[in-house]
Amino acid sequence: MRNTVALDIGSSKTVIYQPGSGIVLYEPTVIALDRERRFVKETGTEAKKLIGRASDSTEVITPVFESEVADINALSLLLEKYLNKITVHRLSARPKIVMSVQCGADVTTLRKYERVLRACDAVDYSFVESLIPTAYGLGLNMTTTPAFIVDIGGGTTEIGAVSADGVLCGISVNMGGLSLDNMIKAYLEDSFGLVVGRLTAEKVKLTVASLLEGDNVSMLVNGSDLSSGRPRAVSVSVGDVLAPVKVFYDKIFEIIQMVMAKLSAEVAADIRRTGVFFSGGGSKLIGLPDYFRKQLGMRANVFDSAEVAACLGCGVLANDKKLLSRYAISRR
Ligand SMILES: Nc1ncnc2c1ncn2[C@@H]1O[C@H](COP(=O)(O)OP(=O)(O)OP(=O)(O)O)[C@@H](O)[C@H]1O
Ligand SMILES: [Mg+2]
Repeated sequence: MRNTVALDIGSSKTVIYQPGSGIVLYEPTVIALDRERRFVKETGTEAKKLIGRASDSTEVITPVFESEVADINALSLLLEKYLNKITVHRLSARPKIVMSVQCGADVTTLRKYERVLRACDAVDYSFVESLIPTAYGLGLNMTTTPAFIVDIGGGTTEIGAVSADGVLCGISVNMGGLSLDNMIKAYLEDSFGLVVGRLTAEKVKLTVASLLEGDNVSMLVNGSDLSSGRPRAVSVSVGDVLAPVKVFYDKIFEIIQMVMAKLSAEVAADIRRTGVFFSGGGSKLIGLPDYFRKQLGMRANVFDSAEVAACLGCGVLANDKKLLSRYAISRR
């Protein structure tokens, strides 16, 4: 077990879990490379701080975009660094990896991940469609009742029903927290003539985005004036960004309903009773459960472990050979 790791390389965060040790790494999936000589300058939190602030000699890369490997070399370098970080104390060489991948991941996507894992000296690896480990990571018991999972990540949203037998019906949509950041960025430009960077747009989301009725938080947002280019600050409140926030979550709810419409009557009845199990960072938006209930008339279950559930679930599978062989995607 010492060389087994559970891995979730998200579009926003990389999470690594080790049986017996718990979560051993939780860092942004971002790497900063020297533009010419390609050596690693920063990784994770430090690399993310450089987005929009790097010098000409530095290239800041988010190597996973919408749950697809956008840059195999950069991702290999990043993962190697992350595995080395935990190797020093806890991991013997050549790890065995159980990794979550997007729902319906095709052969091309899996091949790219294989190349990354091989470059990191993985001795053995298994891929599992993320809805399954997410259900296990949230601690759901699917032996008697299927579960409907909605994982709102940074790059994609995974939506589907799972049972002990596997994924009953599920899709991966290219919409995540980053899409909402971009929508907020565009909204600030249109409404206030204020241009902000990607990290500021995310900060605005994390500070004032809310679906809670009567919520009245506000913040001072620094950016530059759209016409003069001069630095400018604007006070932004919940109501100011409510429009893009609603557009984003309403769209997700619409897709949830489309997927639900494909379920058998039996499963639909089960789901109506249990409600939907939300996961991923985007599920932490304030007021989401009440808004969901109002729109869809169903319970929304939200968990503190939202951002690490998929990885924890891979850990459960890594500990149980029978379960892993049931769910591992065949690579032939
Ligand atoms: N309280 C919050 N409200 C709204 N969004 C949030 C909150 N906390 C985190 N997020 C957003 O959640 C996203 C990250 O979620 P998560 O860590 O689940 O993504 P990921 O697994 O890396 O991405 P993916 O699964 O799409 O590849 C980011 O866009 C982040 O801004
Ligand atoms: Mg994810």
